[in-house]
Amino acid sequence: MNFLRLTLVFCFCASLLGCDEWAGWDIERPSDEARVILDATPFIQPQRVCVDPASVDAPADAELVDGQLCVWDMFSGAVPEGMRFSDVSSCEAPWTQGPPWFAKPARVYESPASLLDDEAWVAEATWVQEQVHAVGCGCCHASSSESGNTSGFDFDAPGVWTDTMTNAQLIMSGGYNDLHRLFGEVPVEDNHGFARSETLFPSTDPARLKAFFESEFERRGGTAEDIAESDAAFLALFGQVIEDRSECVAEFEGVDSDGVVYWNGDDSVRQILLMEVDADTPAFPPNLDRPEGTLWALYVDFEGTPIENGALRIGEVPDGTTQMVPENGPAPVLEDGVTYSIFAARDIMAGRVLNCTFTYSAGN
Ligand code: HEC
Repeated sequence: MNFLRLTLVFCFCASLLGCDEWAGWDIERPSDEARVILDATPFIQPQRVCVDPASVDAPADAELVDGQLCVWDMFSGAVPEGMRFSDVSSCEAPWTQGPPWFAKPARVYESPASLLDDEAWVAEATWVQEQVHAVGCGCCHASSSESGNTSGFDFDAPGVWTDTMTNAQLIMSGGYNDLHRLFGEVPVEDNHGFARSETLFPSTDPARLKAFFESEFERRGGTAEDIAESDAAFLALFGQVIEDRSECVAEFEGVDSDGVVYWNGDDSVRQILLMEVDADTPAFPPNLDRPEGTLWALYVDFEGTPIENGALRIGEVPDGTTQMVPENGPAPVLEDGVTYSIFAARDIMAGRVLNCTFTYSAGN
């Protein structure tokens, strides 16, 4: 299936009638059923899903593990080039890992239709579409994946699909601002050759993907203001991750002499980390949510009940939770007089309630 080509054929046939390839393109809002997953389901931890390669028509050269095609079922995961991510994933996990709201994709820029006669442009634009079809991002940004949720912009919009992106979004997509790395990445060797270190969208050829988005930005006369807008968007997302951590306000936040974790307010949390004092602030899974220097990490399973303020002692692993660090073995014992960092959030990368340093006092 190739949307651009189909569209071209359609336009050619319809040209006598006065073709408008955008007519009839209308993205529906997700169903109530989909809304439950998008809005009301906590972050589902990334899992490696393995299927029989024949059952999904995997390409002959796809990398297999013990005869199985294995894929990280998450927003930055990928299937082999040429396949669709939705061939292997229901999109349920990625849907819990990205912005849940519906922003109806619209044509925000009008490129000349003659661009579709430019074979070189069409080849690059089609290749970028195919890259996105192969990754978890397509679950929310590519209508032809038929996941039931296309939000923000649509890689499968008819004609010049980049018309659904703002200039700021074009430059973001090409990985212009390094802060995008805080979204984390599946190691390229476990991700069917798709890297997410250089560009926002994972790609088997990041330089080519970057060049496409940058040339789109230039073709449309993108400005320094657009770049500033994209930088501001990243800062809004990650400002809290890069800012310095301060001391816990003893009365309201920290870990008491019994090892009980407490914070300000009534929020309950799904992620708690005890870290060395100078560890980085957690960012996105799978590689940045438990930074180096994490001593203990407890995650509430997506079906489990979140932890209430003051209800958990460091080292406890209640039903419906998983101790992620250490993966095996007991939690570390808090040492009197040692300064640690403590972090807690309502969900993975959402609603941080605690990120400060405290000096443990065993009391007496
Ligand atoms: C759960 C669905 C979902 C997934 C998965 C998802 N996104 Fe999005 N994305 C959204 C929504 C919703 C928006 C916000 C649209 C709006 O409000 O304009 C958005 C916005 C964006 C923006 C524009 C941000 C801005 O400030 O304008 C970019 C770029 C983007 N996503 C890239 C990606 C990439 C890259 C991936 C995969 C690594 C991805 N998205 C995965 C739903 C998703």
